[in-house]
Amino acid sequence: MRSLLVTGGAGFIGANFVRHWLDGHPGGTLIVLDALTYAGNEASLTGLEGRRGYSFVRGDIGDEALVDDLLGRHQLNTIVHFAAESHVDRSITGPDEFVRTNVVGTHVLLKCARSAWQANGTWLPGARFHHVSTDEVYGSLRTGEPAFTEHSQYNPNSPYAASKAGSDHLVRAYHHTYGMPVTTSHCSNNYGPYQFPEKLIPLMLVHALSGETLPVYGRGENVRDWLFVEDHCRGLSLVIEHGRSGERYNIGGNTEWRNIDIVRHLCALLDERFRADAGLRARYPRCPASRGEKVETLIRFVTDRPGHDWRYALDATKIRDQLGFRPAETFASGMAATVQWYLDNESWWRSILDGSYRKRA
Ligand code: NAD
Ligand code: DAU
Repeated sequence: MRSLLVTGGAGFIGANFVRHWLDGHPGGTLIVLDALTYAGNEASLTGLEGRRGYSFVRGDIGDEALVDDLLGRHQLNTIVHFAAESHVDRSITGPDEFVRTNVVGTHVLLKCARSAWQANGTWLPGARFHHVSTDEVYGSLRTGEPAFTEHSQYNPNSPYAASKAGSDHLVRAYHHTYGMPVTTSHCSNNYGPYQFPEKLIPLMLVHALSGETLPVYGRGENVRDWLFVEDHCRGLSLVIEHGRSGERYNIGGNTEWRNIDIVRHLCALLDERFRADAGLRARYPRCPASRGEKVETLIRFVTDRPGHDWRYALDATKIRDQLGFRPAETFASGMAATVQWYLDNESWWRSILDGSYRKRA
């Protein structure tokens, strides 16, 4: 039976993972450790408070005494490590936090896990450190180049990607040097419920609903490879439960889209939803679709991101062949579900836009 410490569980993917794991493992121990930075939101974990075995601890992964205490007191044998500074644009304007949390914080976790799980050179049976990494550590692809595999060279370009690469190397080194049981996964761009509205899809969505412009970097031709967050969570569970120690697994959906096409797709989805629903037209009077105008009239091409990676594409053959992973959602079904979630959960994103979500913490 795994008992989990989930770092960054109040963030986008972490919150989806916690719900996914608890549904599949009712009654098991799961402790969330999250510092509630600007990206963390306890409201993303609403409804879980009373569940047996679940608890939330506000704290920093860099707090060695706290992590030691949690691992020992709750006899946790698994760390699922999401906590990170995750936004590329913020890493360009302020890289320090990225090094502090992503590199130094990860090292504190590894050190604490080693001290909790290793005695006289022997590791606690079943112990596992799962590190959630990204496809960005592999760098950028040109159009037509084959997708990244687990053997692709590391080529991180942004301070964010470099900090994630640094943490990957530390995880690998703890396995190689001390024999720590670890797995690492590299996922492509996620989208879905609870994503902070600074990332492409939720940002465009909440801007469109409010009638604000949709800022597309450069010419919008950069390509990302997309995966619905629930599919990522299923992939993570497979790796945690069945992945081989010391191995790395790409998790992706083979779904490459140019940014401009995503934004246009989203605009068209809103046009259609608003045409069919007078209630939406009344709720969001500033959205062009409420006046019968096309939402894509809000699109503006703006200054490009410095060092903007051209294209990501992930080869997820290994996890498919070895662990049987296949995404359940298509991009169309995942996007429709995402739009519906944001429409149904307006108070969640409004409290972020007006800052009140931080006052609760
Ligand atoms: P997020 O920014 O939404 O959430 C990060 C969470 O970590 C927040 O709850 C925040 O409060 C917490 N946190 C930050 N610093 C902390 C610290 N020092 N101590 C404790 N908690 C801290 O991020 P996300 O998009 O959910 O990404 C989660 C992980 O998945 C990250 O490691 C990221 O690199 C990786 N990843 C993300 C994507 C994606 O598309 N979002 C894709 C691949 C990999
Ligand atoms: O590939 C995995 C990575 O995906 C994760 O490791 C990161 O944590 C996650 O943030 C994401 O990084 P990206 O930089 O790809 O995601 P973002 O949503 O910031 O941007 C997606 C694309 O859209 C990118 O090419 C930049 C562009 N963009 C983004 C924003 C926020 C715009 O054109 N306009 C915008 O306003």
